[in-house]
Amino acid sequence: MEITAAVLEEYHQPLRVQSLEIDEPRAGEVLVRTVATGVCHTDAIARDQDLPFPVPGVLGHEGAGVVEAVGDGVTKVAAGDKVVVGWPWCGVCRNCLAGRQRYCAQMPPMVTSGARPDGTSALRRPGGSPVHSHFFGQSSFSTRLMTWERSVVKVADDAPVELLGPLACGLSTGAGAVFNALAPPAGSSIAIFGTGAVGLSALLAARERGCTRIVAIDKVAARLSLATEFGATETIDAGGTDPVDALRELTGGDGVDFTLECTGNVAVLRQAVDALAMPGVCGVIGGAPAGAEFSLDHLTVLWGRTVRGILGGEGQSEQLIPALIDLQRLGRFPFDRLVEYFELDEVNEAMEASARGEVIKPVLRMPE
Ligand SMILES: NC(=O)c1ccc[n+]([C@@H]2O[C@H](COP(=O)([O-])OP(=O)(O)OC[C@H]3O[C@@H](n4cnc5c(N)ncnc54)[C@H](O)[C@@H]3O)[C@@H](O)[C@H]2O)c1
Ligand SMILES: [Zn+2]
Ligand SMILES: [Zn+2]
Repeated sequence: MEITAAVLEEYHQPLRVQSLEIDEPRAGEVLVRTVATGVCHTDAIARDQDLPFPVPGVLGHEGAGVVEAVGDGVTKVAAGDKVVVGWPWCGVCRNCLAGRQRYCAQMPPMVTSGARPDGTSALRRPGGSPVHSHFFGQSSFSTRLMTWERSVVKVADDAPVELLGPLACGLSTGAGAVFNALAPPAGSSIAIFGTGAVGLSALLAARERGCTRIVAIDKVAARLSLATEFGATETIDAGGTDPVDALRELTGGDGVDFTLECTGNVAVLRQAVDALAMPGVCGVIGGAPAGAEFSLDHLTVLWGRTVRGILGGEGQSEQLIPALIDLQRLGRFPFDRLVEYFELDEVNEAMEASARGEVIKPVLRMPE
């Protein structure tokens, strides 16, 4: 089938929108007509070669749409079902069997190899050579995407599917980090470093959990204002203030119970650890440049503090995505306010607008 997709031809270069062909779904696969897809900072990281993904290939990992066809053995969804396409997982490794799907042992190749496990791609140039597919098991910057039955989360027939793609990664990542990983008790304090789509989702979840001190830290004034509207009790402009000093002052010298690093900058990660109370927990979410390392004062960690990487908000897409849809419907997770729509052929503008801090969550609408 002929489709239109934004192809990463060369690293560090703009994506090129063009015609490709996509396979028919094989056993266990689901072909989805993409209605819209979120753009996550991780797409830019892959474009810039800080996350491995082979070229030429199609990025995008926050797809939502309508099932067009299913392969043999697929029973979870059928043609016509509306779906959000979540992170892939194999279902049979020890971590999947233990219910820890985000740490599926097969996850690295499933998200970055650019192919199915047998090495074949679902995409090719018209009549020609393969183009890498299956970025995060989906490659959603495309009018059709191929994924696995396990990845899709069916949503209601009347769900606003055009809006829901960002729940597949960025919004689940922030909210899930708080709901599933940090699980702060009522009355605790949390500082969120970086209030992009991920950080603001974490903030909304922290409010739901009953955190009574929620400090938002960013360099973009508009994001800090939105953070205040979303429930931040204090904000810190990292452009003019040292966040560690400011957080110690706010807490009478104690530091905060929980911090979340949502910028991808290891200098900020150091701040997020140094601002912790004893025995606090720092969640590491941001994706730093390839090979980045960080150092900590040994005593900081020895004295009971935890530094914890958190992938995709942990938990399971099947649980988290419907919960966030319900919370949005109830007015308690207004992520629709973060979204600005672009057309597929504006993909590079969308990525640049996000990088400049002008748009929090770009969503690409697909042509019919
Ligand atoms: N761990 C995961 O599973 C996972 C999943 C999705 C995204 N991510 C990563 O999470 C990070 C956040 O994603 P996003 O989509 O919200 O990105 P974003 O670019 O929209 O947000 C990052 C925010 O950090 C702010 N910032 C930059 N430098 C800062 C500094 N020195 N101090 C304070 N704030 C600063 C920016 O102004 C921006 O608002 C990215 O690095 C992304 O790659 C990780
Ligand atoms: Zn697995
Ligand atoms: Zn992402």
